[in-house]
Amino acid sequence: MTTPLTAPLKQSASCPRCSGTGWVTTDADDPDATLRRCSCYANQDVDRRLENSLIPQRYKIARLNNFDHYPGIDETLQEAQLIAEKFAEAYPNQKDPGLLFQGPSGVGKTHLAVAILRELVTNCGITGRFVDYRDLLRSIQNSYNPVSKTSEIEILYPVLNADVLLLDELGTRRPTDWVRDTVTQILNDRYKRERVTLITTNYEDDNTDPSVPILAERIGPYARSRLYEMCREVPMHGKDFRQITGRGTVHGATDQPQSSRATGRAHAP
Ligand SMILES: Nc1ncnc2c1ncn2[C@@H]1O[C@H](COP(=O)(O)OP(=O)(O)OP(=O)(O)O)[C@@H](O)[C@H]1O
Ligand SMILES: [Mg+2]
Repeated sequence: MTTPLTAPLKQSASCPRCSGTGWVTTDADDPDATLRRCSCYANQDVDRRLENSLIPQRYKIARLNNFDHYPGIDETLQEAQLIAEKFAEAYPNQKDPGLLFQGPSGVGKTHLAVAILRELVTNCGITGRFVDYRDLLRSIQNSYNPVSKTSEIEILYPVLNADVLLLDELGTRRPTDWVRDTVTQILNDRYKRERVTLITTNYEDDNTDPSVPILAERIGPYARSRLYEMCREVPMHGKDFRQITGRGTVHGATDQPQSSRATGRAHAP
């Protein structure tokens, strides 16, 4: 990618100037140009900002205070909830620059990350954006198609400029040089401008099972390196909530499903 990443958006559903991020730049060709608040920002009420944050329907009810403590809950989940609550409460003076929720499927990583995003958009006047990693890369790739109506810049602008970005499922796309370069450039841009990024991933940093790749292998060492400074790691382990609720109510669960640490393998490369 050689396009300047802070170029303004040409078209968008929410605001043709800022794509709902609330930020515009005067110099589209200068990646280090200063951003200023878009004129639409003053008129963006909470509902509009929530709508612009593109939280998926499935997570519309995810809140910090409805993260259940079911029987036998792993202590990393309680710790993760506490970290999330503190982060949202202290923002913008939180001590962690961002958060990286790491763990197997169904432990509530996206739930907690969405809950923070919602809280900040609702209470702190920020613009937020939920982005699925695979969808993002697919959209960028599709934008190279000459018949595509959307340019790479149009896709990237809100991702780079949202006050708080939630990048969900980091690493799920099979790593190629292009994937690694693209994710590095996105993270690097937010890193340089010290923008808050919340991330979820199934990939961990150490793995006792050599057949399961680690995060650095999935996104490349440069991107992983930036994350050390951008995000506090929040390990989450325990049962797959989807499996538990599939068997009845959470609180009434008597079966002890296999630990998802054992079963919740990272996605195959
Ligand atoms: N402790 C919890 N309390 C209430 N709901 C939960 C809890 N943990 C998970 N859920 C719910 O279970 C579902 C799965 O959780 P979520 O999608 O956050 O898991 P995940 O860790 O992101 O999984 P994956 O790695 O597969 O994306 C969601 O509907 C979520 O709201
Ligand atoms: Mg998830």
